[in-house]
Amino acid sequence: MAKILVVYCSMSGNTKVAAEAVAEGARTSGAEVLVKCCAEAGPEDLTACDAVALGSYDAFSYIGGGLKDFFDRCFYPTQGAVTDKPYVAFITHGGGGRAIESLQSIAASFKLKCIAEPVLAKGLPDQAAVADLQTLGAKLAAAATAG
Ligand SMILES: Cc1cc2nc3c(=O)[nH]c(=O)nc-3n(C[C@H](O)[C@H](O)[C@H](O)COP(=O)(O)O)c2cc1C
Repeated sequence: MAKILVVYCSMSGNTKVAAEAVAEGARTSGAEVLVKCCAEAGPEDLTACDAVALGSYDAFSYIGGGLKDFFDRCFYPTQGAVTDKPYVAFITHGGGGRAIESLQSIAASFKLKCIAEPVLAKGLPDQAAVADLQTLGAKLAAAATAG
């Protein structure tokens, strides 16, 4: 069974809801899913999974500080061990959403492989956004299984 890690950064809950939708989509597709707040996740989680979903709120057009801290802690310990690992990204925002650019740039530094277009949701994900996030999780599970 493919192992999916969902790491998210959330201040007021919107991105946590998004993360749970991604996790649900992956689980429904038969994957084993671990959902972790970025403060509780570390390099061992990133190396242990077959694929990863990365999510953040938009903070001044950048990812949340907690997710940046996760990436900083993980970079050297995972270097060379996560190359081409499938990933997807999701963002919640207040009308901007440019944080996706920083998330994609950092994922490229880790040499993770993007397997689907990111999902951006304004505020608390509505029904349509939840469906998109579930689909994103399903795509990630499929990529992890194929790999
Ligand atoms: C400190 C801070 C900075 C923010 N900066 C932006 C921003 O630059 N662009 C944007 O679209 N939303 C911005 N927002 C809005 C949040 O990204 C948005 O409300 C998000 O859904 C919050 O997610 P959360 O509930 O998971 O914390 C900011 C929010 C905070 C708290």
